[in-house]
Amino acid sequence: MTERIFIGVAWPYANGPLHLGHIAGAYLPADIFARYHRLKGDQVLMVSGSDAHGTPITLRAQREGVSPEEVVHRYHQQFLDCWQSLGISWDLFTSTETVNHKETTHHIFLKLLDKGYIYKDKMSLPFCPQCQRFLPDRYVEGTCPHCHYLNARGDQCDECGRTLNPWELIDLRCGICGATPTFRDSEHFFLRLTALADSLSPWVREQGHWRENVRHFTLGLLEEGLKDRAITRDITWGVPLPLPDYPDKRIYVWFEAVIGYLSASKEWARLQGDEDKWREFWREPTRAYYFIGKDNIPFHTIIWPAMLIGYDGLLLPYDVPANEFLTLEGRQLSTSRNWAVWLPDYLARYHPDPLRYLLSINMPETGDTDFSWREFVRRNNDELVATYGNLVHRVLTFLQRHFGGAVPAGDKEDDSSQTLVARCQNTLEAMDASLSRCRFREALRSAMALAQETNRYLDEKSPWKTVSRDREAAGAALYGALTAIQCLKQVLYPFLPFSSIQLHQMLGYQTSLEAEGWHFSPVPSGQKLPPPAPLFLKLDEKVVEEETKRLAQISG
Ligand code: MF3
Ligand code: ZN
Repeated sequence: MTERIFIGVAWPYANGPLHLGHIAGAYLPADIFARYHRLKGDQVLMVSGSDAHGTPITLRAQREGVSPEEVVHRYHQQFLDCWQSLGISWDLFTSTETVNHKETTHHIFLKLLDKGYIYKDKMSLPFCPQCQRFLPDRYVEGTCPHCHYLNARGDQCDECGRTLNPWELIDLRCGICGATPTFRDSEHFFLRLTALADSLSPWVREQGHWRENVRHFTLGLLEEGLKDRAITRDITWGVPLPLPDYPDKRIYVWFEAVIGYLSASKEWARLQGDEDKWREFWREPTRAYYFIGKDNIPFHTIIWPAMLIGYDGLLLPYDVPANEFLTLEGRQLSTSRNWAVWLPDYLARYHPDPLRYLLSINMPETGDTDFSWREFVRRNNDELVATYGNLVHRVLTFLQRHFGGAVPAGDKEDDSSQTLVARCQNTLEAMDASLSRCRFREALRSAMALAQETNRYLDEKSPWKTVSRDREAAGAALYGALTAIQCLKQVLYPFLPFSSIQLHQMLGYQTSLEAEGWHFSPVPSGQKLPPPAPLFLKLDEKVVEEETKRLAQISG
């Protein structure tokens, strides 16, 4: 039975390049999940886009002395290039700058206003006497009242992940000039989370399948008690209010960015030539998954669901498999200190699949994990090349040399070949169970265990020894190994799409790999295979030294 799967992925701020933390946190798991479901024949809609608004963008523009539009367009284009090179297979990657997004946001805002879930009130906000302006979100800094982190911002603490109001911060300072702000009254709109909490709490409690960290964090916030949140700001960059009289205010970036999931679905439907097609992805029995990093949890398990409950009639998240953080060479990634591996840099120098492999086998699913160049080279050489790539290469080159590239006949009676096929079938089932629960590391480990098993099979059969005296037995061994390689090609496709497609062609197919499904069948005897090329390249140990040096240089 095919399913319908909606996949929403965090919208990256278009204020700087992507780094490996973003990829391990959200984009790679989402892409693996989408490819897996497409293989299964499910209908998938995977969307996201550039988060174009808010103070992260304006701060960057101000620092560079350019317009916010310029910053957004530069990075949006760069994101698109990166997705292409890394193989992130969006159904649509748009941006929050579109007219469609503005209209969708206005629609939701007005409906929530109408239902009393949004109301107007005065609030006292930090105003910098030096800069002569209100200081929203990232323009104001101070100490977190919960965990006492010194550099919390006006809307969120990066340390404990809690969302904040600016007046809750201790020892407030202006993020631009450092002066101490005073407070002034300003009129704003609020989301009545206090009224939505009663419906949210039982819903969250029902989500027993959520990851422990996500569930625990969310229930903790609910137990602390939700407060109403201001959803407008005194700035001029962002989505304007759908009401007259507020020319100097904009809708809060987080309120509108999450609406992007819906507006992107509508844009996708229009592009498909069927305006209403988005609807089926926003109601049962579709399952909606949101892939995000852990700093985005409250917005996806509290605020967005609250908005959806208040709106009424749109699908709530089924799962929010938030990942923990990726550290780099044992230290926390930091954009400001330039301690990061930037994705465009990586992609300019290396193939996408080794990165996809490392970040999958080492995915921060249940705790933080570390990326190091040493580990990158080691896993590429010892696992991708030695276990998988060499297996494929040994079989395919042998086939060319001794069988003229034509697939030999198998031996149905052979015990170890039967065992290997059974092992393939088990791997398919085990990985199915892991992937459907978003357990990506576990799934990839199963695939690599099958590759190891196939190596053992091949060593035991040693066709290179038998070929001169028993050509048939040697051929049957190759046939057995090829069957397992077929299976590996399919199950590794979500993780390593580029090499799986290359392998598919090297196995003599001109068809689409995705159409083969979550399934494998032996390569037919007699099928003619083209000359093979290696799937992966061994990396020189020098890479470790070079890249570590580069890191130290760019981070100063
Ligand atoms: N731009 C935010 C970030 O980079 C994520 C926004 S996710 C969305 O942390 F759902 F709100 F769009
Ligand atoms: Zn904190």
